[in-house]
Amino acid sequence: MIVLGIETSCDETSIAFLKAEKNKNGFFIMPLGNAVASQIKIHNRYGGIVPMLASREHVKNIAFIAQKAAEEVFGKKNFAEKINLIAATKGPGLIPSLLVGVNFAKALAFGWNKPLIGVNHLEGHLYSFLLPKNKEKKLLSFAQLKKIFPAVCLLVSGGHTQLIYLENLYKFKVIGETRDDAAGECFDKGARILGLSYPGGPAIANEAAKYRIQDTEYKIQRLPRPMADSDNYDFSFSGLKTALLYLTQKLGSQKTKKLLPALAFEFQEAIVDTLIKKTFKAIKTKNPKSLILAGGVSANQQLRNKFKEELKKENLKINFFAPELEYATDNAIMIALAGFLNYERASEARKRRSKWKNLKADANLKL
Ligand code: KG4
Ligand code: ZN
Repeated sequence: MIVLGIETSCDETSIAFLKAEKNKNGFFIMPLGNAVASQIKIHNRYGGIVPMLASREHVKNIAFIAQKAAEEVFGKKNFAEKINLIAATKGPGLIPSLLVGVNFAKALAFGWNKPLIGVNHLEGHLYSFLLPKNKEKKLLSFAQLKKIFPAVCLLVSGGHTQLIYLENLYKFKVIGETRDDAAGECFDKGARILGLSYPGGPAIANEAAKYRIQDTEYKIQRLPRPMADSDNYDFSFSGLKTALLYLTQKLGSQKTKKLLPALAFEFQEAIVDTLIKKTFKAIKTKNPKSLILAGGVSANQQLRNKFKEELKKENLKINFFAPELEYATDNAIMIALAGFLNYERASEARKRRSKWKNLKADANLKL
């Protein structure tokens, strides 16, 4: 079947087409096209996302993005009859943003008389590691899936930081999460304190890459690793952001500017160390076959490298998965995949309920 995916939960408008089938051996998946319009430039000057501006941009762009994705895949031909399922993010996210994608999806499902399934955005991130690059085919056999699960997933995005235990492809449970800021949010707020641009993750990573550990003249004090040793799988990042603020106030603006690479490096290290500590605590007690990284922060190269190093250091012979970079941050192809996986296993009654009338956005949807 061909699934049309729609994603507008935050500040990315994305439309994608995914070819997906289930046969007796497993799943065949092939991303056909994935168009994303980022609103970074619009929100940059505010240092974060302004929900009403995000909504307005989604409204302005969504049909054009759909046209762009459709032309890439189907040319100028009418493609309505090729679509078998529409999958749209229904939550969690900013309600003014979610409503745009949900209503666009409802209009298409109504006009074309197609089934429509609402997708939990976090499930999209969770499954994103399964996706091959755009236009590449992948056969995911049931035998392969057996070797992947059970797994532990660290989902790190702008809105969420969660440790999830996946018994199998469909059964999962959140075992720990942040008590305040998400890891991505911490990168974004830290960048703002350092006078770097939004989104903060890539800006801090770029600055940190300029730092050389042997540069002793750039030595700064160590930042805290909040809750790293607490006896649970939860995180807390708001104290780290405050520690960075106090440190920059102590240094003053000139020194802060001079020490920018060192500050960005230490801040990134503090976030990565904290994530590693809790994730490995979960790995050691849950004994999974795989470790999965997901969400926008999983695009961070230092994070990926340090997780791999830690697996080696601890001599843990488990699989390591992270999404293709193009699918780490928000995109509609992961939404199409999550929609497909949920739809193909749904009962006939549930499939009949997958109608435009039954889809509602839910800003606080849980995993
Ligand atoms: O998953 P995502 O695109 O949106 C949400 O669902 O929230 O994640 C966005 C977050 C932002 O906070 C951004 O700063 C962070 O992901 N991010 C990164 C990197 N690229 C994006 N954080 C660290 N390093 C990166 N390279
Ligand atoms: Zn996301």
